[in-house]
Amino acid sequence: MELFIYHTPEATPTDKLPDCAIVVDVLRATTTIATALDAGADSIQAFSDVDALIQVSNQWPADKRIRIGERGGQKVEGFDLGNSPLSFTPEVVAGKRVFMTTTNGTRALERVQSAQTVLTAALVNRKAIVEYLMTKMPNIVWIVGSGWEGSYSLEDTVCAGAVADEFSHEGGYPIENLAANDEVHGAIALYQQWKAQLFQLLNCASHGQRLLKLGLYDDLKYCAQLDTLEIVPIQREPSILVSSKAKTDDLHYWTE
Ligand code: MLT
Repeated sequence: MELFIYHTPEATPTDKLPDCAIVVDVLRATTTIATALDAGADSIQAFSDVDALIQVSNQWPADKRIRIGERGGQKVEGFDLGNSPLSFTPEVVAGKRVFMTTTNGTRALERVQSAQTVLTAALVNRKAIVEYLMTKMPNIVWIVGSGWEGSYSLEDTVCAGAVADEFSHEGGYPIENLAANDEVHGAIALYQQWKAQLFQLLNCASHGQRLLKLGLYDDLKYCAQLDTLEIVPIQREPSILVSSKAKTDDLHYWTE
């Protein structure tokens, strides 16, 4: 396996795609995606554009859909929910398609949606993602942080480092054999420095500060949890994510 980490979608190469792309948006899109699917949501459909989301979701039965919209950390007017993972309880989402648009996370998903396999990772489902990778062993893997409007985000890189670190330890793969770009070493070092204080790191992060100013302390607390959800969100078709347990045709294995 060759592992690349890109801090933002803008940093990814534009002339190629990996076998497996893992999108990370710890605060909060990929934490929300894992939480919603774990709570029984049928699927997530990601949109980078609000109008496109409205147009497509209008074709969906009202009692089987939920629209979530976030811009700048705040709920988009007219949407059912903002992007707080704490809102995604079984009572709210079970059996529904979640139509989702966020400032960065849905844009990152769009950037890699043509990859053979697309997953989403957060701190809450880090271990589940690593176990998926160990089972499937894709050859070329990108972990893509969502960042904030093109800038680096501490929380996405620490999560990328958490995935890389766990994969290396679980599988006994030396980092020097795994890392295909320098960002992997940097991300692992960041995770090893902060792994016992992930909530504190999220508080230092610029987007963490933005959310705290909006009174979203409980969101940060929740998003900082490690390995609490055994869920692997996987793209079933472009822009549509389901739990890998529900994606029965996911029998693709990569040979070395
Ligand atoms: C993003 O897409 O950047 C995040 O999901 C923003 C947020 O939910 O606060």
